[in-house]
Amino acid sequence: MSMMDQDILKVLYTQEEIAARVKELGDQMYKDFKGKNPLFVSVLRGAFIFMADIVRACQVKSDVEFIAVSSYGNATRSSGAVQITHDIQQDISGRNLVVIEDILDSGNTLSFLKQYFLTKGAASVSICTLLDKPSRRTKVITADYIGFTVPDEFVVGYGLDYCQKYRNLPYIGVLKPEVYSGE
Ligand code: IMP
Ligand code: MG
Repeated sequence: MSMMDQDILKVLYTQEEIAARVKELGDQMYKDFKGKNPLFVSVLRGAFIFMADIVRACQVKSDVEFIAVSSYGNATRSSGAVQITHDIQQDISGRNLVVIEDILDSGNTLSFLKQYFLTKGAASVSICTLLDKPSRRTKVITADYIGFTVPDEFVVGYGLDYCQKYRNLPYIGVLKPEVYSGE
């Protein structure tokens, strides 16, 4: 047991379960995007691990971009305002975008980004999220590809963080409440 494992209340999805689901999503997206030269846009930092796995699970001719946004600070709830802190580096007009996100929670981030990319001329914007937490949605937005639907609990691992930590856990787990109860 590592120091990080000790802060985990329970494991929701093991490394093997995640890998199997990522393969299914990759197969599904392969059928949908074959010949469409999609541009995968990863939302930093939480989606970096999912991005690396999903693009290899979906063997279509494609390219990758990264965008960084901030809306959370170090709290476990969204402040609502989304700011782009690192933008994509190319013209996306006419491109079929697939936004790769770690978790769809309130929907603030993805509804902002979807509108942003459409305004910049994307032909289509699809959303692929590893996790969906529909119980907390405040914006009307749904993902096209969902890894797992999760209950209203704060989760970490496989890219997801608490105060920038736990991203490198190979599984997804629920943090012990006492780890963030000082908030
Ligand atoms: P939204 O804008 O409220 O949909 O939130 C999306 C972002 O909030 C995600 O990209 C995550 O960075 C963060 N987030 C939401 N819920 C969790 C969670 O349970 N664990 C870790 N990060 C989360
Ligand atoms: Mg994030």
